[in-house]
Amino acid sequence: MDSLPSKTDADLARRLEAERAFHNAKFGEAQEHGAPDAIYELPRVAYRWFEGEVKPRAKGAAVLEFGCGDSSYAVKLNQWGGTVTAIDISDEAIEETRKAVTEAGFSNATTLLRMNAEDLEFPDESFDLVIGRAILHHLDLEKSYAAIARVLKPGGAAIFLEPLAHNALINLYRRFTPHLRTEDEHPLKMREVRAARKHFDGVEAKFFTLTSMGALVAAKAPKLFEPLKNGLDKVDAGLFKVAPFAGRWAWTTGMVMKKAV
Ligand SMILES: C[S@@+](CC[C@H](N)C(=O)[O-])C[C@H]1O[C@@H](n2cnc3c(N)ncnc32)[C@H](O)[C@@H]1O
Repeated sequence: MDSLPSKTDADLARRLEAERAFHNAKFGEAQEHGAPDAIYELPRVAYRWFEGEVKPRAKGAAVLEFGCGDSSYAVKLNQWGGTVTAIDISDEAIEETRKAVTEAGFSNATTLLRMNAEDLEFPDESFDLVIGRAILHHLDLEKSYAAIARVLKPGGAAIFLEPLAHNALINLYRRFTPHLRTEDEHPLKMREVRAARKHFDGVEAKFFTLTSMGALVAAKAPKLFEPLKNGLDKVDAGLFKVAPFAGRWAWTTGMVMKKAV
């Protein structure tokens, strides 16, 4: 079974402060991400999958959102019938989420907390559903997987959408855009995805965005970009079905981690 190293306490304190400061600045200044917009259109297929997994499980469920950031699912989770708790290490993330749930009329129904996702302050078996987007790769995975498994109720599930580490083209893009990332974030290696098996009774991984990156050749021609991207999303889905090993080169993995009843 894959097992991952954990970091020292000194490194942990430095990392948490660096993550907090980076994201406070990012969310507080409401700055543009500065990346070409077409790139951030590519994961829409993954977001649709994520919502398709989360929405039917949210009704009547106690839901914890990990690393809610400034584009939290808290409003949608409330609309889908969940009882929502959202956490983040960044004060600005919590404030932005507070504004969003207040505007939508869900402030009384939503618990928002600044909390380290690796060291959850909730009792065992508190949640039916734990969700997160682009957060596990900011964390110590062994600690986070263990923390999620501890707070999940029997029969509960955790749904995450995370970037992967093995695609040379995306890694090149990452190398040229270091200002978009924290020093410590680490897109997941396949062995880190597999390491979740130690903590959960079932782990499934889906993959998104490989050939669809080819749609970027039409980034400046929106009328062509959209159908090309949609067509290549279908090619990707077929490819990952017939050749699951190709998933490691995808941009994104969707993880469903289940705790037995
Ligand atoms: C890439 S952002 C993703 C935000 C949001 N989930 C989204 O999809 O836009 C990562 C988030 O994780 C938060 N974060 C980083 N380390 C954390 C930790 N140890 N505990 C809780 N949140 C953390 C950051 O503050 C940031 O809001």
